[in-house]
Amino acid sequence: MRILSGIQPSGVLHVGNYFGMMKPSIELQNQGEAFYFIADYHSMTSLFDAELRREYTRQVAIDFMACGLDPEKAVLFKQSDVPEHVELSWILSSICPMGLLERCHSYKDKIAKGLSANHGLFAYPVLMAADILIYDAESVPVGRDQKQHVEVTRDLAIKFNQAYGETFVIPEPRFREGAETIPGLDGQKMSKSYNNTVEIFGEEKATRKRIMSIVMDSRSREEPKPDAEENRAIELIKHLAHEAVYLDEVEKLKAGGYGYGDLKKRLFELYWEYFREARERREDLVKNLDYVDQVLNEGAERARGIARVVNKRARAACGLE
Ligand code: TRP
Repeated sequence: MRILSGIQPSGVLHVGNYFGMMKPSIELQNQGEAFYFIADYHSMTSLFDAELRREYTRQVAIDFMACGLDPEKAVLFKQSDVPEHVELSWILSSICPMGLLERCHSYKDKIAKGLSANHGLFAYPVLMAADILIYDAESVPVGRDQKQHVEVTRDLAIKFNQAYGETFVIPEPRFREGAETIPGLDGQKMSKSYNNTVEIFGEEKATRKRIMSIVMDSRSREEPKPDAEENRAIELIKHLAHEAVYLDEVEKLKAGGYGYGDLKKRLFELYWEYFREARERREDLVKNLDYVDQVLNEGAERARGIARVVNKRARAACGLE
């Protein structure tokens, strides 16, 4: 099975990125031929600082490997090292109805916020379709928020195949069980644009402070909390802790005499422990940047080998050669 996913280098990676995309991708690296890339072309739709793009791109590679991506098993590369993605994106854009893109949330959300969207943002799902189709990917591990984009990909593949003959594999999105949307510190979806994230590799003091600042309801420590499963802190604990630990926290809240301060302290401890090993691996990687660059270069070679073949197939199908 060919597996593919991408992640944007548009900021420091957070726990929402981890559970939405990184963890499922890392788990799948043992189950098929996995290709994971850093979507630097996509980041251009919202990040306009060259130095930061370079920096975040490298950080994503480091963080992903620290979290368990094994470059012996999965191919890790930078999207723009395989420029065939862009050619295929053009080919697909010419069969893509405007209406399909007008309905996409990445674009709609921005417009709704009163911001002006650039053409890249509008065309974002087409480039994403090219990313997926150019590897004949069958399975695409993503967070729920990317469901619509994978549906656009499927639509475009089907449309192209109808217009020009069987060319593309139709991919399936793959969501990790239990990882609906990861809530941020304010209860909305965790997202850099809401400034409600917990960084995967945040500094200890600052992260503790951030977690302790989660706003909860005003019930006192003593009061029993029968709705204990439904608050921001416990929802994060659900992802970070073993089930028994999670259930124990719920019990304590329900019984009363256990306050939100206690809960948030526990949340920080569990978070810190959860990423301990990754943090240690990361320290080594940061000292070995040549190795990180080498992984990306070798990954690009391997990815490009496949992308060239599929791109050629598409070019031939539609009469470019
Ligand atoms: N849009 C994805 C995100 O923001 C990143 C992405 C780009 C991607 N191309 C992809 C994910 C292809 C999966 C497959 O999370």
